[in-house]
Amino acid sequence: MSGSLSGLYGGRGAVLVSGQGSRVVDSEGREYIDFFNGHGAALFGHSNPELLAALQAASRGLWSVGAGFDSPVREELAETLGGFVGGGRVFLCNSGSEAIEAALKLSVALRPGRSRIMACRRAFHGRTSGALSLTFNPKYRMPFKALTADVEHHNPEDLPGRIDENTIAVFVEPVQGEGGVYPLPEGVGRAISESCARAGAILVADEIQSGMGRCGAMLASMLTGLDPDIICLAKGLAGGLPVGATVWKDTLGDFPSHSHGSTYGGNELVCGVAVAALGLIREKNYATHAAELGALLRSSLEQLGESGGKRIIKGVRGLGLMVGLELDVPSIGVVKALQARGLLSLTAGPRVVRFLPSYAAGSDDVFKAVGIVKETLAGFQP
Ligand SMILES: Cc1ncc(COP(=O)(O)O)c(C=O)c1O
Repeated sequence: MSGSLSGLYGGRGAVLVSGQGSRVVDSEGREYIDFFNGHGAALFGHSNPELLAALQAASRGLWSVGAGFDSPVREELAETLGGFVGGGRVFLCNSGSEAIEAALKLSVALRPGRSRIMACRRAFHGRTSGALSLTFNPKYRMPFKALTADVEHHNPEDLPGRIDENTIAVFVEPVQGEGGVYPLPEGVGRAISESCARAGAILVADEIQSGMGRCGAMLASMLTGLDPDIICLAKGLAGGLPVGATVWKDTLGDFPSHSHGSTYGGNELVCGVAVAALGLIREKNYATHAAELGALLRSSLEQLGESGGKRIIKGVRGLGLMVGLELDVPSIGVVKALQARGLLSLTAGPRVVRFLPSYAAGSDDVFKAVGIVKETLAGFQP
């Protein structure tokens, strides 16, 4: 008997075998501009030399010692991440969903006697039971209703009026990704932050896709008026290796002892690469690069809309290197057609094509990619 992978993901119809910087190559030798980057995890592009060196160095040491032992590299990572909230504590895990689960459990532990948990309409926070409860799309959530917790989903602008003294936590993506690439308006973010602070509700920013400089600042919260008590990170944190982090303000408190844990979380191998990745963002000023390149991509796509593509392009949204192109045709067909012409992207809902370029991308990639979008859309009718 032989085995095969679950059909969960559908097929992209290509075998990617190598990559360098912003480009990947398939088994037939075809090169693609990669604006997909493994769902945004390969934030530094492919085969980044500094991250490769960090991985090689880490691989020669202990790979896993277990969370109960002190580990200098894990502590170095926690120190840097804790700085994101002006002095914080950190729980390390292996994925975005796990970082969200930890934020949920921590919030519940720290607000006994309260019962309301809130998230936004269109939100995506992952697919494990707690994270799935926060995810809005009924297509993902309803078949597993027996497993999920009660969460209220509100429009972001309505949240400030709903938060009260019975609210445990409010989960917000500074820029919604899967839901359609919607940046949170700064005024709304500020009102949510103020309302949480007034009611003593815990504000959780899901920075799993938007964080690590991608949106033009280390955290997209800084650009969208959010002052989170807890931050969830994953994806680019270790340049594409499996990692997640839940970071919270020291003043909030801590988990009750032994109330949560992870075998692999905070392993030395991944921590070594994450420390190098965080160093690179600062040294190379990647957040500024992300802001500039993202602005170029958005304005180039907007120009396409103004010249011939107007019938199909309904809007361009985003922040930094998280860009959404809203169309008048189903996005899945366009994503496939872009791939056939050498550009990798992903959907963000039924009518939005999402681009997640890496820090390795430059203006030449943007111009080439926008040329491919132009040629591709010429073949579609609204
Ligand atoms: C905003 C956000 N939250 C949570 C997740 C879940 O992360 P993971 O797939 O690593 O569990 C994702 C993944 O796409 C995400 O984009």
